[in-house]
Amino acid sequence: MLTSSRRLSRRSTLKLIGGGAAAGALIRGFPAPAIAQGAPIRVGFMLPYSGTYASLGKNIDQAFRQLVAEHGDKLGGRPVEYVTVDDEAAPPKAPDNMTKLVSRDKVDVVVGTVHSGVQMAMVKIARENNTLMIIPNAGADAATRAMCAPGIFRTSFSNWQPCFPMGKVMADAGHKKVVSITWKYAAGEEMIAAFKEGFVKAGGSVEAELLVPFPEVEFQSYLTQIAEKKPDAVFTFFAGGGAVKFVKDYHAAGLRKSIPLYGAGFLTDGTLQAQGEAAEGIQTTLHYADDLDVAADKTFRAAYQKRYNAEPDVYSVQGYDAAALLAVGLDAAKGDTGARDTIVKAMQAAKINSPRGPISFSPAHNIVQNIYLREVRKGKNAFVRIAHEALADPATGCRLA
Ligand code: BEZ
Repeated sequence: MLTSSRRLSRRSTLKLIGGGAAAGALIRGFPAPAIAQGAPIRVGFMLPYSGTYASLGKNIDQAFRQLVAEHGDKLGGRPVEYVTVDDEAAPPKAPDNMTKLVSRDKVDVVVGTVHSGVQMAMVKIARENNTLMIIPNAGADAATRAMCAPGIFRTSFSNWQPCFPMGKVMADAGHKKVVSITWKYAAGEEMIAAFKEGFVKAGGSVEAELLVPFPEVEFQSYLTQIAEKKPDAVFTFFAGGGAVKFVKDYHAAGLRKSIPLYGAGFLTDGTLQAQGEAAEGIQTTLHYADDLDVAADKTFRAAYQKRYNAEPDVYSVQGYDAAALLAVGLDAAKGDTGARDTIVKAMQAAKINSPRGPISFSPAHNIVQNIYLREVRKGKNAFVRIAHEALADPATGCRLA
């Protein structure tokens, strides 16, 4: 049954237009198909615009809009209209927020989100509704493993990707016994597990795994435990406001000199201005750095700086690439959102010169990318070396291929 003009594929639209008087009456009886009107593509942003991850959501949103502006404010030849929802990084609110976007606002594509717990609720609903969804941050491994789906793509990372290579980096630096500390939720636990996999493989051992309730930032009692245990080093995942507070508290506790601090790169990305001196010298692994020798990055950074009067960070890059990937799909389908197979095939085969370097997509629709070792120098995440080239997530349990 024809229930929505947006559901009408380009092929069926053309058939109706060319189908004589009966088809003409049918078109007169229903709203004219969106594509025939050059109606806007409806992009639903489900992102945190408040709370500890607010700056992450804002940067994803801004850079997505930047790429669309660079494409003449169009995707697949059609103008773009945005519907935004503040998900507050709150998993209990996620099903309602996602259902509103998909069923009430009838967006053509959902772009979201940041928090892994919120993401898993979105994945469930996207699978039930066959929604086209691009994940611009949340690393929840299952989204492109057991819960993968034809319409779900990720332009950020799986939680495994930035952390697994750090195991070897820290073992090569001579560390044998470490303590880990993170927030107790999917992202933190999966990142620590990935780091541990790499570290144990390289001969190290994780002596204690400290877990802080999300989004708490009272770290004193945990820092006391770290000081008592005297590990060779600490590995951590915190991001946004929590990362700022943790790095400052670690420094203020006087631990930096005796127990080196390492992390997934979120620890120092988009946070350095607020962390100041406390972050200097911290080494992290991530799929971006502030001074990459990548032509696309120089253009991207200059345009972002001009447009927003701010430095971009890894979250901006992920939002920019979400729009770039969607542009590939919609260009292939000439703006016809009903041509889902064409869109998905083109996105799966996309090879993009991202600001972070070359990216492509695995059969599970997760990004394949370089992971860089960085060190904070003079307030920048300086490139040290490639820790792992073109790293793909294992995609365990995904049956798309
Ligand atoms: C996550 O919840 O997946 C996440 C949040 C912030 C930074 C990185 C990952």
